[in-house]
Amino acid sequence: MTNDPIPNLTAFDEAALASAFGELERQARVAAASLDGIKAVEAFRLEWLGRKQGRLNEVSGRWLKAAPATAKKALGLRFNALKAVVESLLDEASGSEPSDAALQAEAIDISLPGSRRLAGAEHPITRTLNEIVSVFAALGYSVGVGPEVETDYYNFESMNFPPGHPARDTQDTLVVANQERRPLRDRLLLRTHTSPVQMRTMEQQPPPVRIVIPGKVHRNDAADATHSPIFHQVEGLCVDTNITFSDLKGTLDHAMKALFGSAVKTRFFPSFFPFTEPSADVQISCIFCDGKGTRDGAPCRNCKASGWIELLGCGMVDPNVYGFVDYDATKVSGFAFGMGVERIAILKYGVDDIQLFFNGDVRFLEQFG
Ligand code: PHE
Repeated sequence: MTNDPIPNLTAFDEAALASAFGELERQARVAAASLDGIKAVEAFRLEWLGRKQGRLNEVSGRWLKAAPATAKKALGLRFNALKAVVESLLDEASGSEPSDAALQAEAIDISLPGSRRLAGAEHPITRTLNEIVSVFAALGYSVGVGPEVETDYYNFESMNFPPGHPARDTQDTLVVANQERRPLRDRLLLRTHTSPVQMRTMEQQPPPVRIVIPGKVHRNDAADATHSPIFHQVEGLCVDTNITFSDLKGTLDHAMKALFGSAVKTRFFPSFFPFTEPSADVQISCIFCDGKGTRDGAPCRNCKASGWIELLGCGMVDPNVYGFVDYDATKVSGFAFGMGVERIAILKYGVDDIQLFFNGDVRFLEQFG
């Protein structure tokens, strides 16, 4: 949009004014007619009405000043009329519909797919862990936690594993390096089970105790389809007066039915743990073959045709353990249990490789969404 420069006015009679202002109005109309988009409208406004460099400013500066006193009034009227025309052209241009080209530039293609937000889901281990905890919470158990980096005292000694006891070797312990100068009981390790939190709990409160303790544990095991150096356990501890092995059996039988369905049966098999006496491994009837040991005429692979699946360790709290706290073993008794969360999740969800829980493959995880 280029306009002729404002000429100097030499005659100021009516005819000369009419022709000079007429020419400016013509130029303004031509320019306004081809305005395309807000940028062009703004440029037009600056060009004509700009305070310093606008064409009208120039007209008033140049023509009005040069006009003889007798022509000033007529010139002023024409000037105001031209200004009104320019302003109305500007109003029309800024209020008018945008051109097709302007619309095209701003258009969005509503047929394109939208950006989808993926919904998060609880990790199957977290979900299973919460489910186990809530079964016991419904029985009145409280929930506690303890440190993952633990001392030898809590992980072993107070759990009735004396120094040098062969049962320590069964735990495949990962220890923190360079602590040989510390007394054995103060040396740090990655806890191999959640049982040390039994002792931490009993140090903190007198009986009665009913608590479950979920958490991460570590063992020096090579990773394969059934082993992981990191896994999770839920520990349970119940200490009160007159707690018997029947209470232990009833509690765990109820918990297994709550987790795997009311049809499962439980069986208690003699076992050994330093901190419980007597100790047992709990087995549930195989949920894949309904305890029959055969499936579709073939031996059941999940229970090795036995009809039973071993699931957790438990037992009556060994009186030696009470000896490490202010609990009177002649007055109170109790039971403890510990279960592997991955093991339970594997059974509940039919997962065939424990590593799937830790690899973070979204194709596995989104199945739990
Ligand atoms: N802490 C034992 C383990 O990790 C499990 C257990 C807990 C056994 C409580 C008995 C009582 O193997």
